[in-house]
Amino acid sequence: MATRLMVEGGAPLRGEVAVSAAKNAALPALCAALLTSRPVEFENVPALADVTTTRSLLEGLGGVVSTGPDGATRVQVAEVTSNEAPYELVSTMRASVLVLGPLLARTGLAKVALPGGCAIGVRPIDQHLKGFQKLGAEVFIRNGFVEARASRLKGARITTDLVTVTGTENLMMAAALAEGTTVIENAAREPEVSDLARLLSAMGARIDGAGTERIEIQGVPELGGARHRVIPDRIEAGTLLVAGAITGGDVTVTGADARHMSATLSKLEECGAAVTVSGDRIRCQGPPRPRPTDLITSPFPGFPTDMQAQFMAMLGLADGISKITETIFENRFMHAAELARMGARIETDGSTAVVRGLRYYHGAPVMATDLRASASLVLAGLAARGRTEISRVYHLDRGYERLEAKLGSLGATIERLR
Ligand code: EPU
Repeated sequence: MATRLMVEGGAPLRGEVAVSAAKNAALPALCAALLTSRPVEFENVPALADVTTTRSLLEGLGGVVSTGPDGATRVQVAEVTSNEAPYELVSTMRASVLVLGPLLARTGLAKVALPGGCAIGVRPIDQHLKGFQKLGAEVFIRNGFVEARASRLKGARITTDLVTVTGTENLMMAAALAEGTTVIENAAREPEVSDLARLLSAMGARIDGAGTERIEIQGVPELGGARHRVIPDRIEAGTLLVAGAITGGDVTVTGADARHMSATLSKLEECGAAVTVSGDRIRCQGPPRPRPTDLITSPFPGFPTDMQAQFMAMLGLADGISKITETIFENRFMHAAELARMGARIETDGSTAVVRGLRYYHGAPVMATDLRASASLVLAGLAARGRTEISRVYHLDRGYERLEAKLGSLGATIERLR
C-alpha cells in the first residue's frame, strides 16, 4: 500500500512554527547556477522532492551538488556536459523547463522534454519560447523535445501575452548573458522573480525593475559565483496560518515575510481571523467559525492561485456562501470533489466555485491530486470530526518540508502510514 497521511481532526492548533525557504524561489535559483562555471552557494535550500529532482537535473547536465560544512548547498557547473533535460525528470516536475534559459545562454543549445499538461491545466510554455526567439534563438519542437539554439543571444524587447512566473524567470536568466539590453514587459511581479534577480545580480548580472512589470537586463559576457539566501515560502506560511484559522486555533509563523503575503493576510482577516505582524512573525488567531468571503486569484500582488485550495477548505466551513474565481489555471478545482467526500457543499462551474459553508467536515478517505490540493485536504482533515486518510501524498512532499512534523508541533494528530 502506498504512503498515506492519517489526520485526526478536532484539535485547535496552537504555537509557533518556522517557515522554510520558498520552493518556487529555490528551484529557479538552483537552475541559475547553470549560468556560471563558478560555485553558487545557497544557505537554506528546503528539503523537498522538487529540490531533489532539480538536483538530479543539474547533475545530469554536468553539475556537482554538495553540502558544505555550514550546511549550505553548493552547486558548481564547471562544464556543461549535456544539453538535454530528459523526459523522466521533466514529467515529474514542470519547473524543469527553468534550465532552458540558462543552458541556451551559456552553451547556445538547450533541449528539454516538453512538459505536457498536468493536473491543474494545460500549461503551455509558448511565452518562454517566443521570448527566446525574440532573443535570436531558433526554436524547434521535435520528438517531444523543445530544442533552442543560438550562437549568442541578442537583447530584445519582449512583451509577454500573459503574466508568467517561470517564463519571466527563464527569459531573465537567458537575457543576463545576452549581448545588449533586454526589456521584459508584462513581467511577473512575484517575490520569487525578485529573489532570482537578487541572486543573478550577486552573480554579476545587471538587472533593473524586478518586482515591477518592466524588467530591464543589460547582458554581460559572463557571470560569477555567489552566495544566496532564499526568501521564505509565502505559500507554506499561508498554509500554516490557515491551519490555525480553520481549527479556531492560534498559530504564529516565524521567519516569514508579510510583505509578500498582503492578499492572503487580508483574506484571513475577512474570514474573521485576527492577524498580527511583528517583524518576521505573523500571528493568526482563528475565529470560532470562519466568515464567508469571495476571492479571485490573480498574479502577484493579487490573491495567489497557490492559496486557493487552502482557502476553499476553510470557506467550506464558513457561516454563509463564498464565491471563488480561479483565473490562473483552468482546472484547479480538483480538490472540490475530494472536499465533497468530507461533506463540503461546493458547486463548480468553469472558473468559479460556489462554496456553501457547513458546520463540520467529517473524516473520510480522500485523494490528493496536486500539491496545493493535498494541502487543502490536510487542512480540512485537521478541522474535521474523525479521521481523514489522504492518499497520493507524494504531491505534498514535492512542496512542503516536514509538514507533518510542523503541524504536529502545533498540536495536530497527523501520521504517515506506509
Ligand atoms: N501560460 C501560458 N503560456 C506560457 C506560460 C504560462 O499559456 O508560456 C499560462 C499557464 O498555463 C497558466 C498561466 O499562464 O494558465 C500562468 O502560468 P505561469 O507560467 O505563471 O505558471 P508557472 O510559472 O508554470 C509558477 C509556480 C506555480 C504557480 C504559478 C502561478 C513555480 C515553479 N511554479 O508556475 O506553483 O501556481 O507560477 O503563480 O514557480 C505550486 O507551487 O503549487 C505551483 C503550481
